[in-house]
Amino acid sequence: MNFHKICILGLGYIGLPTASTFATHGLKVVGVDINPHVIETLRGGNIHIHEPGLRSVVESALGSGNLTVSPQPEEADAFLIAVPTPFYEDKYGEYDGRKYRLADMSYVISAAEAILPHLRKGNLVILESTSPPRATVDLVKPVLERSGLKAGLDFYLCYSPERVLPGQILHELIENARVIGGITPESAKAGHDLYAIFVKGRIIETDATTAEMVKLMENTTRDVNIAVANEFARLAEKFGVDVWEAIRLANLHPRIDILSPGPGVGGHCISVDPWFFVETAPELTSLIYHARQVNDGQPHFVVEKVKQALGPLKDKKIAAFGLAYKPDVDDLRESPATEVVHLLQKEGGRVNVWEPFKPDARIKGVNMATSLEAALKEADAILLLVRHTDFVNLKPGQVATKTQARVVVDCVNGWDAGQWSEAGFKVYRLGVNKSGVTN
Ligand SMILES: NC(=O)c1ccc[n+]([C@@H]2O[C@H](COP(=O)([O-])OP(=O)(O)OC[C@H]3O[C@@H](n4cnc5c(N)ncnc54)[C@H](O)[C@@H]3O)[C@@H](O)[C@H]2O)c1
Repeated sequence: MNFHKICILGLGYIGLPTASTFATHGLKVVGVDINPHVIETLRGGNIHIHEPGLRSVVESALGSGNLTVSPQPEEADAFLIAVPTPFYEDKYGEYDGRKYRLADMSYVISAAEAILPHLRKGNLVILESTSPPRATVDLVKPVLERSGLKAGLDFYLCYSPERVLPGQILHELIENARVIGGITPESAKAGHDLYAIFVKGRIIETDATTAEMVKLMENTTRDVNIAVANEFARLAEKFGVDVWEAIRLANLHPRIDILSPGPGVGGHCISVDPWFFVETAPELTSLIYHARQVNDGQPHFVVEKVKQALGPLKDKKIAAFGLAYKPDVDDLRESPATEVVHLLQKEGGRVNVWEPFKPDARIKGVNMATSLEAALKEADAILLLVRHTDFVNLKPGQVATKTQARVVVDCVNGWDAGQWSEAGFKVYRLGVNKSGVTN
């Protein structure tokens, strides 16, 4: 199938790099977003998200005239849906005493509805948003068929999961293997033809539900593996062991690859996607459910660690370093660091957060510092929550000159305990012996 013009709905971390990459590979691309701020920002030649290299690709896509942005879709050869699929904050399902999250698929439904008036015979529609199994067939297909056209007969319909790593999106978009699940083999073939425009990795055709499961299985596996690392951290503290050293030694085994413990699991994917399995098959997902519980409970474990270091938290001033859900990104979604801050404050702690990737973030109930120095001012302790490279590179001797704090709590194995001790800090590390004191 040949493509001249495509429409991409949702210009976030996935949609904008995808739209710009298609545009710089010669396609006419209409990027659609319902958020007026996104449209205005892009029309002004700026970008609204932080992703290395994205600015220049967007600039050249816009500059060539191949990429235009609009609040609504228009006729095109293909439509890609890359809108959010979060879970509801206030709706839960329940099975056998287990309360589980429910996916909010309303963005996907309204994106499909927005395509409806523009859908023509021979078009291709691809859902990229991470979705519960069967969403393409049971949710998107019926909406699109309200056009009177039959999916698989009159138009092609696919699910293709996005598996890029924030921070390396532009590279991975092109180089990674891509799975295209069609509701018919012809649909998968059409999807293949579209992505072949820029994808250099293997493009594998399968059916839509398999493609949905592939994505969910990848993230669920990571979530479960992080949960076991977090339980190892709890066990190590109980048995007076340094979990980081134990993991390092275990990983010398050729078939073992234990992940790192930390303050929990966040982001738009790993902390969300396992719920899509639990929701659609609660009777089959006990392990997945319990792994979620462990990871969601990890911020409480951090708070206990801080209490070990500081005693009762009432009126204790804590400089928290990092709010992003993982190192070196500005993405704060579902970040466990935010939960840690809220819990510390609930116990009476006064927390100032320094997040160099998003110093002006506005999050309800979170005090953002304007600089590292401002966060450190008057602090009683420094809490390292995210392993940003800038934090890892901090010189303890220099930090000591900027603060009266002489206690650090490292939740991510970011700092050399010996060096910080030498600079006069008492060091507490997540997953390290009963008292947590390393010196
Ligand atoms: N961010 C990642 O690293 C990543 C990786 C793999 C998969 N995903 C999945 O991709 C999907 C998109 O994620 P994202 O990170 O790009 O989200 P995002 O929040 O960064 O961007 C989504 C954009 O869609 C827009 N939008 C919402 N409803 C719309 C509609 N009806 N029409 C047009 N625009 C609409 C929003 O305004 C927003 O700008 C999600 O399902 C996510 O789980 C994300």
